[in-house]
Amino acid sequence: MKVIEANDYYAMSQKAAEMIIDQVRKKPDSVLGLATGETILETYAAIVNDYQQNQTSYRHIRTFNLDEYIGLGADHPNSYHYYMNEHLFRFIDIPMSQTYIPNGLADDIPEECIRYEKLIGQCGGIDLQILGIGRNGHIGFNEPGTSFDSTTHVVELAHSTRIANSRFFSSLEEVPTHAITMGIATIMKSRQIILLASGKRKAHIMSQLLEGEVTPNIPASILKTHPNVTIIADKEALSLIGKEQRKVYVQ
Ligand code: GLP
Repeated sequence: MKVIEANDYYAMSQKAAEMIIDQVRKKPDSVLGLATGETILETYAAIVNDYQQNQTSYRHIRTFNLDEYIGLGADHPNSYHYYMNEHLFRFIDIPMSQTYIPNGLADDIPEECIRYEKLIGQCGGIDLQILGIGRNGHIGFNEPGTSFDSTTHVVELAHSTRIANSRFFSSLEEVPTHAITMGIATIMKSRQIILLASGKRKAHIMSQLLEGEVTPNIPASILKTHPNVTIIADKEALSLIGKEQRKVYVQ
């Protein structure tokens, strides 16, 4: 695992976009694993900007999103379907039929999880997976305690996650209680992983991640055992890392 320290949120986003665009140019039929949340917003904006300036094509790209709320459809403004359309898909030339997101409205949710996991395999697996990190160390919606062997599954969201995500809803009650998420084993199968972290609110978890052990209590800690992980974080997110750990990880 290596850590690239960026000066600020904007520089972090530019670096992340650069790496994603590089992957798309090198392998135009790449399978990308995508994340949602606030952190990655500017990265998507930079990708859209590059598309408009340089016409990088996504025509043969396939994407798999990490997660989706159960009970929210594509037309609900808080669904991750809606988010992806609004922040990325409708601005680039990717055919919508090549964008995959778990269906939070499926009649048979366990079956939907199996279907989604299979589909990733049928597409040849994920070349590059982008992750954010929750303040409790979650990746996707894999909350602390999730088995490292988990594949796509249903989760009950941690109370702290619902509170954190309630900023996008009009009240906490409206935040769904459950979600479908790729599992930790699903994420770990990706050939390359980029994790983004920005701001003071991520500083504590980033120090726990970089200074602590590999433990299911911090789901993101499993990434230390993956052969190709790059963390791109800004100065604020890395502000609590001790000097020694800095030497080990930070470029
Ligand atoms: C959310 C999402 C994750 C996201 C993380 C961080 O709950 N399920 O995929 O990466 O939490 O979100 P943010 O970037 O808004 O801090």
